[in-house]
Amino acid sequence: MKKIMDLIAEELAAAFEAAGYDKEYAKVTLSNRPDLCEYQCNGAMAGAKAYRKAPIMIADDVVKRLKDSQCLEEANAVKPGFINMKLKKEYVAEYLNCMSTDGELGLETAKKPKSVVVDYGGANVAKPLHVGHLRSAIIGEGIKRLAKKMGHRVLGDIHLGDWGYQMGLIITELKERKPELPYFQEDFHGEYPKEAPFTIGMLEEIYPKASGRAKEDEDYRKEALEATRLLQNGHKGYRAIWNHIMEVSVADLKKNYESLNVHFDLWKGESDAQVYIPDMIERLKAKGYAHMDEGALVIDVGQESDTKEIPPCMIQKSDGASLYGTTDLATLVQRMQDYDPDQIIYLADKRQDLHFLQVFRAARKTGIVPEKTQLEFLGFGTMNGKDGKPFKTRDGGVMRLENLIAEIVEEMRKKIAENRTVDPEEAEETARIVGLSAIKYGDLSNQAFKDYVFDVDRFTSFEGNTGPYILYTIVRIKSILNKYQADGKALLKLKVEPAHDENEKALMLEVLKYNNVIETAFEELALHKICAYIYDLANAFNRFYHETKILAEEDETKQKGYIALLVLTKRVLEACIDVLGFAAPERM
Ligand code: ARG
Repeated sequence: MKKIMDLIAEELAAAFEAAGYDKEYAKVTLSNRPDLCEYQCNGAMAGAKAYRKAPIMIADDVVKRLKDSQCLEEANAVKPGFINMKLKKEYVAEYLNCMSTDGELGLETAKKPKSVVVDYGGANVAKPLHVGHLRSAIIGEGIKRLAKKMGHRVLGDIHLGDWGYQMGLIITELKERKPELPYFQEDFHGEYPKEAPFTIGMLEEIYPKASGRAKEDEDYRKEALEATRLLQNGHKGYRAIWNHIMEVSVADLKKNYESLNVHFDLWKGESDAQVYIPDMIERLKAKGYAHMDEGALVIDVGQESDTKEIPPCMIQKSDGASLYGTTDLATLVQRMQDYDPDQIIYLADKRQDLHFLQVFRAARKTGIVPEKTQLEFLGFGTMNGKDGKPFKTRDGGVMRLENLIAEIVEEMRKKIAENRTVDPEEAEETARIVGLSAIKYGDLSNQAFKDYVFDVDRFTSFEGNTGPYILYTIVRIKSILNKYQADGKALLKLKVEPAHDENEKALMLEVLKYNNVIETAFEELALHKICAYIYDLANAFNRFYHETKILAEEDETKQKGYIALLVLTKRVLEACIDVLGFAAPERM
């Protein structure tokens, strides 16, 4: 369906033309004075200079031609030259009824679906998943769902950090603790055990210990670096340990992401890019894209228009080792070859922006990625504690994701128990669902780029701009609909009626923005716009609910109209939270 703004703009364009003005000026925006009007056009002001006329005269001319408008009940020219507009109630009701019968609620999905890869999550294997990875997972999952909603073909890839120094550290520490294991016997030729010599709990203890030791003990560090090098060069025993680490960690990661309702289509990692590196480097050298600089192999990526110097993208160190950038370039080789995507969206901490700028430029310059493929970096800010510093546990340690989720769920469980008596099992399940909304909405309602304060009390509140408030609103609608049905009335053949009062119309005006909001959110990769929208929508609904007798309404047609509006409001809210990656419980 066409967006309501476009429908108004079409009529307005015709009016501008009929009055002898260029239709370019017929731009419609939401009113910034909702007390006066619903939509406005500022084109008369913009055209004043070109036509050497007072804006109000242009506005008057245009408004005269809007008398027979299909969609507008009112169009007024207001000094200095605004055109203020209100929609016809009947037109709004008709629009909503069309939305109701459309499976996509009026959203026009892409005519030419793109193939999109979303690179998010980015967990580092064998290191505990911490809150820093939370944002990547939450925002990335939302972007992936949004792209799907728009009709694109999307692949979400976790791009594990699974090929680095942490692996060498673990191998070194394990060797020291259990030197008798076959992985460490150079003359071992049999089959390595199927079972890993450690559990996830042990791995989580080994890594920080080894990492701490390497910082103090130079020999130990060298050994870990050597182990990393051997692993990367195909040492059989180390490769077998690596397989164990992967198996154990990935199973644990899956569990964690599952609890966040985050699901990846691809579980690839840095290790998968390694086979592409030798050829890629040969080609870059042969074509003259890469050159030696102080012993390292680099690609120059500076451009004349740069206001500050952009250092070259380093792809091989003097000792032959590859780097983060090398892996990302090689991953692009693999992605172009396997999926030939039209767009790749990367999620990572915004402090990685230089890295991505270098990689993107290197990929373009060397033809690894053609012009037609859009590369986008969506950098996000830090999640801070109330003290304004990166979020930590109470005793100052790095907060583990699992614990953070547990803390929120516990808080939610308490609140639910305060509200009413529910059986403990249901309370637990509901606390999980609502807790997830608290975490995700708390994050997504902020512009991704900005740092934000993770405030447990505020995020779990049932009031204000929070996930639980949105869910509470949906649950409220569900409850009304259940009661309506319990009265023996069916939710079939219901039609939205032209609004009976201002509150109802205000709610309708929010509902019909849905397609516009989703489209804009995708264009700008801005999930916070969906949050802002559902907050407004929930507020509009609650105002309507408080001022209207719905179940007690005696006029049957009127009541059916209300119920139809409720059904639609619920569908819109649910479609939005589904994009954000959470759902509503039946009761709370
Ligand atoms: N593993 C990285 C980290 O923890 C994030 C990976 C982001 N994606 C990428 N293709 N570089 O910082």
